[in-house]
Amino acid sequence: MSAEKILATSALPYANGDIHLGHLVEYIQTDIWVRFRKMQGRECYYVCADDTHGTPIMLRAEKEGITPEALIERVHAEHVRDFAGFHIGFDCYHSTNSPENRALAREIYLRLKNAGLIEVRTIQQFYDPVKSMFLPDRFIKGECPKCGAKDQYGDNCEVCGAAYAPTDLKNPYSAISGAVPVLRDSEHYFFKLGQAENFLRQWTRAGHLQEEAANKMAEWFGQGLQSWDISRDAPYFGFEIPDAPGKYFYVWLDAPIGYMASFKKLADEKSLDFDAWWGADSGAELHHFIGKDILYFHALFWPAMLQHAGYRTPTRIYAHGFLTVDGAKMSKSRGTFITARSYLDAGLDPEWLRYYFAAKLNGTMEDIDLNLEDFVARVNSDLVGKFVNIASRCAGFINKRFQGQLSAELPPSNLLAKFNGEELWRRIGRLYGDREYGKAIREIMALVDEVNQYIDAEKPWELAKLEIDDLRLHQVCSLCLNFFWRLSVLLKPVLPALADEVQGFLNLDASRMKWGQFNALPAGHGIRSYNHLMTRIDRKQIDALLEANRQSLAAAPSPVRHAEHQQHMENKAIAPIAETISIDDFAKIDLRIAKIVNAEHVEGAEKLLRLTLDIGEGKTRNVFAGIKSAYAPEQLVGRLTVMVANLAPRKMKFGLSEGMVLAASGDGPGLFILSPDAGARPGMRVK
Ligand code: 2FM
Ligand code: ZN
Repeated sequence: MSAEKILATSALPYANGDIHLGHLVEYIQTDIWVRFRKMQGRECYYVCADDTHGTPIMLRAEKEGITPEALIERVHAEHVRDFAGFHIGFDCYHSTNSPENRALAREIYLRLKNAGLIEVRTIQQFYDPVKSMFLPDRFIKGECPKCGAKDQYGDNCEVCGAAYAPTDLKNPYSAISGAVPVLRDSEHYFFKLGQAENFLRQWTRAGHLQEEAANKMAEWFGQGLQSWDISRDAPYFGFEIPDAPGKYFYVWLDAPIGYMASFKKLADEKSLDFDAWWGADSGAELHHFIGKDILYFHALFWPAMLQHAGYRTPTRIYAHGFLTVDGAKMSKSRGTFITARSYLDAGLDPEWLRYYFAAKLNGTMEDIDLNLEDFVARVNSDLVGKFVNIASRCAGFINKRFQGQLSAELPPSNLLAKFNGEELWRRIGRLYGDREYGKAIREIMALVDEVNQYIDAEKPWELAKLEIDDLRLHQVCSLCLNFFWRLSVLLKPVLPALADEVQGFLNLDASRMKWGQFNALPAGHGIRSYNHLMTRIDRKQIDALLEANRQSLAAAPSPVRHAEHQQHMENKAIAPIAETISIDDFAKIDLRIAKIVNAEHVEGAEKLLRLTLDIGEGKTRNVFAGIKSAYAPEQLVGRLTVMVANLAPRKMKFGLSEGMVLAASGDGPGLFILSPDAGARPGMRVK
C-alpha cells in the first residue's frame, strides 16, 4: 500500500452565514474521500477554516453592533458545531483571521513583490460619500444598462443576465446608505497574472483539473489574463498590506492561503514538517475540493501565486456542481433553503443525507438534485430495509441461541470468496478514490441484495424451528454477520457513525475496520447484544423541516413591515411569532415619537405617501410610507406616530427615505398606523 502524504481541503465558508445543505455537498464529498484514504492507511489530513475577511463581514458586524472579531468568533463556533453534527472530520478547522495566515499572506505577497509581480495603479472606483467608503460591486445598485431593470447589482443583471462594470449602471446608488456614489481615484495593488500565463497554460493541461474545467480555462486564456486587483481601501476587515498603510489584502488573496495556515496550525500541534507538505519539492499530494463557481480563483490565481512564491502547487482540483432541491434552486420561501442546524434540530439522522448525497455524487461538475420523495424512499429501502436488515435478521439468533458466539466454521459460499478477494476492495476503492461514489454505492447495494437473497434462500427463521438444523442456523447467521461487517467497512467512508456502532456490537478492534478485509472473523468470535442501528424516515419529518425553514424566513428581519409583508402570511390567522431576541437586540432599534408635519401624494407611486416627520432634531425627515391605501394625506397631518429613527436611509425611485413609520396589518384589508397616548412629544424614545 502506498504510504504517501495527502492533504485535502474544502472551500472555506464565509464567516457571516449559516452552513446549509448546498455547502454540505462539498464537505460530505471531501469527508468521504478523506475517510477512505485514512482507512487505506495513508497519512491524510483534512483542513479547512472560516473565510473571515471582506466588506460583507465588516458590515454585518456593524449592523449587529459588534466587532468583526466577535462576529467571526461566534460564527466559528456555529460552523464547528454544524460540521461535527454531520461527522465532517476535519483535522484542523481554523480561521483566516489568524496569526498563521497573517504571516503566510505577508510572506507570499513579499515574495511576489520581490519577483516583480506586483504593480501599483490608480483606478477610479465608486465611493459612498455618506458611508465614507469605496463600494464593492455587490454594494452598488442601479438600473441595468442593457434592459433597464431596476435595483440590479453592480456586476451583472439578474433579469437579462448582462455582465457590466458598476460604472455602466444607470442611476447608481449605494446599497448601504442609499446615497448616490461618486467616482474617486484610488491606488490599487495588482498581481500581474499575465506574467504567469505560460506557466498556467501548461499547468492547467497537466492533469490537475477535470477535463471540463481545463476546457473552461482555455476559454479564459483566449480572453487574455488581466492583472488581478488584490488590494482594498480602508475601512476594510482584513490584513493591511506591508508598507501600504490604509491598503488591505482583498479577501480572495488571503482566503486560499488559509488552507496553508490551517495546516500550519495542525503541523505545529502535531510536530509535522510544514515544508514536507508545502515546500516547492514536496512529495505530498494536495487535493482541493471546491464548487464550480470558484474555479477561476483556484485554477488560475492560486497556482500562479504558489508557483511564483516558491511553494508547491495543487495536485488536483475537484470542482463539483450545485445542489438543487426537488429540481429547483434552493428557495427560502419554499423552505428548501435548508440549514444544517435545522436539519439536525428536526431530529433527522445526518447519515441519511450523507448516504443520499453519496448515492448521487460523481466526479463531474454536474449539479446534483436532492429529491425529497426519493430521499425518503431510498434511505428507507436501501439503508433500513436492506442493509441494517441483514444484522437484525441474524444477530438475534447468535445472541439468543449461541451465547453470542460465531460458529467454528462457515459454510462454503461464493459470496464469501468475493469478500475475501482483493478484486472487490480494489474496484470499490478505485471508485471512492475517483469520487465516483454513486457507482460505489450501487456496487455495495448489489452485494447487500446478494446477502439478502442468501438469507431469503436459507430462511434462518425456519431453521430455528428444528433442533436438527441448529448447526446450519449457527453457520448461516455467522456467515451473514461476516458479510454485514464487510459491508459496514465498505460503507464506512459514507456512514462513519453507523460503522462505529457496528464495530461496537460486533466487538471488533480498530484494525478490522480498515480498507481491505480479506480474512473472516475467527472461529467462535464473541459479539455483543444487538440494538437497532437505524430508524426509518417519516415523510412528515421532511415536511416539518421545510416548514421550519419557511418560518425562519418569516422571522428574518425585513425592512418592509407594512402592506407587502402580507404576502408572506398566506392563510394563517396570525403571522408566526418571530425568533426570540434579547433586550440588547431590541435596544438597537431606535423608535421615536414623530409628528407628521406634512403628508402628500407621490406622483407615479401607487402605494406611497410622502411624510415629513419631526422628531425634535431641529430638522425634518422625509419618509415614504406604503399607507396610501388606508389614509388620505389630510387625515395624517398634525398627528403623532412612531418611527424607526436609525434605519439606514434608502434611496427610492422618488427620493431618499430617512426612516420608517410603523403600521399594523393582518391577513385582511386594512393598515393602521400607531398613535401614542396623549402627552407624548416628538423625539421621545419608545422603549
Ligand atoms: O466562495 C466562498 O464561499 C469562499 N469563501 C471560498 C473560499 S475558498 C478558499 F480559497 F479560501
Ligand atoms: Zn438587464
